[in-house]
Amino acid sequence: MDEEIKLIDENGLRVDGRRFDELRPVRIEVGVLKNADGSALIVQGRTKILAAVYGPREIHPKHLSKPDRAVLRCRYHMAPFSVEDRKSPAPSRRETELSKVIREALEPAILLEKFPRTCIDVFVEVLEADGGTRCAGVTAASVALADAGIPMKDLVVGCAAGKVDGVVVVDLCDIEDKYGEVDVPVAYMPNKGLISLLQMDGILTMEEFEKALNLAIDGCKKIYEVQKAALKRKYDFTEKLKREADKSEE
Ligand code: CDP
Repeated sequence: MDEEIKLIDENGLRVDGRRFDELRPVRIEVGVLKNADGSALIVQGRTKILAAVYGPREIHPKHLSKPDRAVLRCRYHMAPFSVEDRKSPAPSRRETELSKVIREALEPAILLEKFPRTCIDVFVEVLEADGGTRCAGVTAASVALADAGIPMKDLVVGCAAGKVDGVVVVDLCDIEDKYGEVDVPVAYMPNKGLISLLQMDGILTMEEFEKALNLAIDGCKKIYEVQKAALKRKYDFTEKLKREADKSEE
């Protein structure tokens, strides 16, 4: 670790002034893309991610179809301008891994058996990366799935915790991720109480791990409220437009 970079100051505050249990500000907007069946934009601190959902729709090539359920396909991609050093637009090993991780985090929430022989495509496009993109990607994708009207058991929320300068903290930003000791990304279904993603990069004691997991789950519960409010806003707005259209037809 670079000795010059101090991640926790003498008052116990982090590089961006947050306390150990504080999330970055989270904003979610639903239905931002006209041509997708469902979409969402999440802004979490400086991390900005667009999620688009297409389907359920016919699957090509057809031999990939499943007779008893829909196939969920997921593509995590970073825009070339999303990071400091230009990211090659060609898919990297990391993007292939994160596409799989995000798909596996979302899959248990979706009632795939309702749409046999079809596919649901989820695109997670990172516009700006400042740490925690897999988690914010899961959060945005599950809102986009709901916006597409795809039946789900619960929304899935992503939130990471970790350890920086010996302190267990929630929702790491890029500097904390790079120079901190540990990152623990979690995806959680708050209503079901189920975890669908749990990774750990680094080493924690059992006590620290439990603390990190609890912080990440608490973070997920807070972001869940933002997801629900964003979906409600979109639904209320659509209802209002419909009522106005009905009125003008009368
Ligand atoms: O984004 P997440 O924490 O889920 O995944 P990561 O592989 O731990 O990456 C952490 C951070 O490193 C990203 O959020 C980016 O800010 C940064 N990164 C980068 O600067 N350039 C890359 N090619 C990949 C990641």
